[in-house]
Amino acid sequence: MTPLKLGVLLSGRGSNMEAILKNCLSGKLNAEIAVVISNKKEAGGLEVARTHNIPAITINPKTFSDKERYESEIVSQLNQASVDLVILAGYMRLVGQVMLNAFPKQIMNIHPSLLPKFKGLNAQKQALDAKESESGCTVHFVDKTLDGGPIIDQEIVKIYPNDTEESLSSRILKKEHILYSRVIDAYIRNFKRT
Ligand code: GRF
Repeated sequence: MTPLKLGVLLSGRGSNMEAILKNCLSGKLNAEIAVVISNKKEAGGLEVARTHNIPAITINPKTFSDKERYESEIVSQLNQASVDLVILAGYMRLVGQVMLNAFPKQIMNIHPSLLPKFKGLNAQKQALDAKESESGCTVHFVDKTLDGGPIIDQEIVKIYPNDTEESLSSRILKKEHILYSRVIDAYIRNFKRT
């Protein structure tokens, strides 16, 4: 079977993208990252992609008159790269109707909490502040709500009494790197080409 083409959207360092990329390159995932798109030109993930000769593009929302035109440009780049599945990996913007219409049930996101708990920013700190005994990470399909949409899979991480935001975030991140590829692998196994 031909590898599934992934389009990654990110805004920052891109460690989740890198973990997925490693699994694509080693053959653990029957997929390839066809394009990486960032809304921020300084995103570290763009550099990581470029060192692997993956097309890495910045699309700055501020240069468009509205969200629809901004997202139309993203969709056009994803289509040019023949992307089958869109992977949000630290993409710090709400997805709008243009992208959702173009890729129905084909956009996934990863979030560092056991959704539906602790949506939004600083999810790890939110879990600590709420004195939870465990947190984790979630991969879900994207809808137009913040960190909403049907949950696909989760990984649980224990919280210890001496945990800080940093220690918890780093343990969750390790699980994110495993979880995202596992979900993509399951998607590939069920994927029916049209
Ligand atoms: C991750 O914690 C992810 O769950 C959240 O943003 C962070 C991105 O990290 N949505 P990275 O850029 O993949 O390293």
